[in-house]
Amino acid sequence: MTKVDLGVTLSSLKLKNPLITASGTCGNGKELQDYFDIERLGALTVKGITVKPSRGNPTPRITETPAGLLNSIGLENPGIDKFIEEKLEIIDAYQLPVIVNISGHSLDDFAYLAERLAPYPQFAALEVNVSCPNIAGGGMVFGTNKELVYKVTRIVKENYPGTVIVKLSPNVTDITAIARAVEEGGADIISMINTLLGMAIDIDKQAVVLGNTFGGLSGPAIKPVALRMVYQVAQVVDIPIIGMGGIMTARDALEFIMAGASAVAVGTATLINPDAALKIIDELEAYLIDKGIDSIKELIGKLIK
Ligand SMILES: Cc1cc2nc3c(=O)[nH]c(=O)nc-3n(C[C@H](O)[C@H](O)[C@H](O)COP(=O)(O)O)c2cc1C
Repeated sequence: MTKVDLGVTLSSLKLKNPLITASGTCGNGKELQDYFDIERLGALTVKGITVKPSRGNPTPRITETPAGLLNSIGLENPGIDKFIEEKLEIIDAYQLPVIVNISGHSLDDFAYLAERLAPYPQFAALEVNVSCPNIAGGGMVFGTNKELVYKVTRIVKENYPGTVIVKLSPNVTDITAIARAVEEGGADIISMINTLLGMAIDIDKQAVVLGNTFGGLSGPAIKPVALRMVYQVAQVVDIPIIGMGGIMTARDALEFIMAGASAVAVGTATLINPDAALKIIDELEAYLIDKGIDSIKELIGKLIK
């Protein structure tokens, strides 16, 4: 066997392979174009957009840990008006599905962003970030309360005609209750997980490292947590899942797919190797050929108990 099928379908989203870039780790795609042909990706997710422009959090905003990154970027972005004015044309030219990530401080913010993006079928889907752990007055609060996450999902669905993905926060005690609320709210797809709330201390300066004290932990350190949560959520919802959290290799991606994810996103790995996602695509193909499996779909949620 030499030809294998890496294509996956998540609700109305049809991807030629299950590899997506995670929001905040590939800019608007342009940043990666110097390194490889981004059109080989299954899809691309742009950096989170808010209603008003945001300068983000005070520096330092990033620090390394033994097995991952702590970041407190705090959603630096040009705001929805400038995003549409300046980036739409660039994004429209890509021959691949582009997902727009949105964040808000209130239900009205989410409704407004959904309404502003509704007229642009250029975007394949809207990803609702209810899980940013490092913005003041909102962000993660929506993703840690099942009533609020239900309301955010509903309001976005009411104002946006296309595919809606809701991105879950891992900073909760029962991820399944949150996932159910998102499904009841009408989401088409769940993506998970965002970063885990953490901090770092400089013992020489006897001070916190990050300007915002707390940051979001990503990378290999969070993979076991992410995998457990994807597995748990896959048991209780019928909508498809995009899995992410510490995926560095095809082996990691396969673990998420077997746990129940229909697609996977790569974040921190791209910051280390810009073409990490491409390597994973090639390795996935080689794995299927080696195992004599025709289609990646056969592996979704496939765990032998
Ligand atoms: C520098 C940085 C910026 C991020 N910005 C966003 C963002 O704007 N919106 C969002 O939903 N997630 C954001 N994330 C979270 C990632 O999309 C992803 O959910 C998380 O990092 C876990 O995946 P990873 O371990 O592969 O990085 C950011 C992560 C990093 C490291």
